[in-house]
Formats: sequence, C-alpha cells, structure tokens
Amino acid sequence: MSSTSSLVPTLPGRSYTDPEIFEDEQAKIFERLWFCAVRAEDLPKPGAFRTVQVGRENVIVVRGRDDRLRAFLNVCRHRGARLCLEQAGEVKRTIRCAYHAWSYDLDGRLAAAPNLVKMPDIDRVAYGLVPVELREWLGYAWVCLADDPPSFEENVMGAATERLGDLASIDRYHVDKLALGRRITYTVKANWKLLVENFMECYHCATIHPELTAVLPEFAGGYAAQYYVGHGAAFADRAQGFTVDGSAGFGKLPDVAREQDRRYYAITVKPQVFVNLVPDHVILHRMFPIAVDRTVVECDWLYHPDVVASGADLSHSVELFHRVNEQDFDACERTQPGMASRAYREGGVLVPSEHHIAQFHQWVDRRLRG
Ligand code: FES
Ligand code: FE
Repeated sequence: MSSTSSLVPTLPGRSYTDPEIFEDEQAKIFERLWFCAVRAEDLPKPGAFRTVQVGRENVIVVRGRDDRLRAFLNVCRHRGARLCLEQAGEVKRTIRCAYHAWSYDLDGRLAAAPNLVKMPDIDRVAYGLVPVELREWLGYAWVCLADDPPSFEENVMGAATERLGDLASIDRYHVDKLALGRRITYTVKANWKLLVENFMECYHCATIHPELTAVLPEFAGGYAAQYYVGHGAAFADRAQGFTVDGSAGFGKLPDVAREQDRRYYAITVKPQVFVNLVPDHVILHRMFPIAVDRTVVECDWLYHPDVVASGADLSHSVELFHRVNEQDFDACERTQPGMASRAYREGGVLVPSEHHIAQFHQWVDRRLRG
C-alpha cells in the first residue's frame, strides 16, 4: 500500500507481542535515549533516593550531600547484589550493600569494605558505583544509559520547541517550579507502543472521551492530535476551566501568555514522555515499559506551589485527565490481545487523521535497525 493511499499499514501484530522484539527495543530505544526517571521534588534532601527500571537495568537516582542529583546502576561492585531494594527511601550517609556490607558515598565512590585492611590500595572510583548520565529539565531527572548519550538539547528539549515554537514556549509554564498536586500510577496490560499510538491520535476522542471533548470540542473531529495542536486546542466557550465538568480551575500560571490562555497543548518526547499544558496546570506522563505486554505509567498533575500549599480541592481538575487516562488505557488493554490474533498478523491500517503514526513506526524501525 502506498503512503498516498487513504489507508496506511501499521506494524505487524508480533511487534507488540514478541519478547525478543521487546528486548531489542529495550536495548536500542530505552537504554540509548534519554529517559525521564524521577521528579526532582521526590528527592527533597541528601540521601533521598528512588530506583527506576530503565530498559533492562535498575537505576538509583540519589541526592548527594552537595544537593546534586546523581544516577548509578543499582548493582554492588563486589559480587553484584542489588543495593536498594525499595522504590523510594532515604539513606543516612552511604548506600550500604546488605550482602557483605560494602558501602558507597552518595557520589558513588566506594567508602568502606569490611576486612579490607588495605583500603588505601583500592581505587575507590574504579570500584565505585557505575555512574549513569543525568540531566535535570522540567523538574525531572532524565537519565541515559548510553556510553555516548545523544544530545539532550536536540532529542529532549527540541521536541518541545519543535511542536510549540516561541508562542507557547514550554518555558512559560515553569514546569520545574511547579509542585506535585497529585500522582496516579497505572499498570496497563498493553505494549508501550499502543500507548504512544493512542496518545498520538484523536480519532478515538469522539468515541471514548466524552468529558474531554466537552471541554475541547475540536477533539471530537478526530484531527486534534499531537501533530495538529501546535496552535493549541481551544476550550469550549462554556468551559470555565480544564476540569471534568467544565467548572473553573485555578488562576492561569503567571507567565502563560494571553494567546495560551484557554488552550491545551500536547507534546510527546520520545520514547516515553507525554506532556499536556493547560493554563493552570501541567500533566506529565512517564511510561515505564516493563514487559512486552505491560507498561507502568506514572502521571503527575503539577500546579503552582501556592495552589498546592493552599490545600485547594484539586479533584475536579485531576478527574478530567484521570478519566481520559482510564479511557485510553482501557482501549489499549482491549487492543493488546488482538495483536496476537491471526487477524492482525499483517497488522491493521491507519486512516488519514492517523497517518502521522506511521512516522512513529518508521522511527521505531530505524532505531531497531541502528
Ligand atoms: Fe555487595 Fe558483596 S555483593 S558487598
Ligand atoms: Fe485518548
């Protein structure tokens, strides 16, 4: 089928079900590109850590005594035990292995090893934790497992400016200064690519998102997807705010321009981040693909710190996109079993309002070949 046809083929079903393909994606996508791992405010003081699964590796992100965030592979250099077992926690001075008690400073250097009388002989860096590249942006720690990470500016920051240009520059939302109002974690029984594809199109909006299309009527037309809302999707006249019932939200964030007011913008930062910008808050999704048919999504609702500090009721605000998430993830879960069916051996098709999803498929193909 040619790309000028009104129907364009998708990836074949096995792309979504074959564990070997998933392993290849882990190696060539998630372990080579920048991966949005942890919200910085989740690590408020020295010693606070989180562990995250990035591709096939487990990574510790920890705040040092100098207040800097650092990332390391969560593996003891002695005989390989996993160091931090919890997803979140706090250590006092060092990260200590529970096996033979080697301990590591928060900057990764080996601090002490029992019975090693000649510690001065030991290279504390060479036997320290294996560091992982880390950059902070939008208030998140982004990590990259590659030996030679791709340009953060081009690959991560570029995605936002490419889509939004100057007018709606993401900087105006000061996402790094916002406070976490609510976080919901979803475990979705579907391949990660189904989630990306779903997020990229709005062909489904009229069918499954009644609350969202009430606030953003142009979404009901099916064309208002990631690739089409660079101008921002306008709120319905009767919607006072981006809330589940169209009731008023909170005051617009201080630097959001008048042209950005009453508009919704969406960005995908490949491979695992979706950002939604509305005048009074920001919704940021991080995907963690954990198996060929399972994806964990952490969704953060971020508000002006004064709103969070005031104890304001966020429920009408959070509920809108929480429902959208549930509706989308239900659709993805309904789709996953079909990927293993004979009916989908050759894949399915994309209608014109979904044709840009083919670019995502080509991108995945290129990464796997590279
Ligand atoms: Fe960690 Fe031995 S494996 S101290
Ligand atoms: Fe949707």
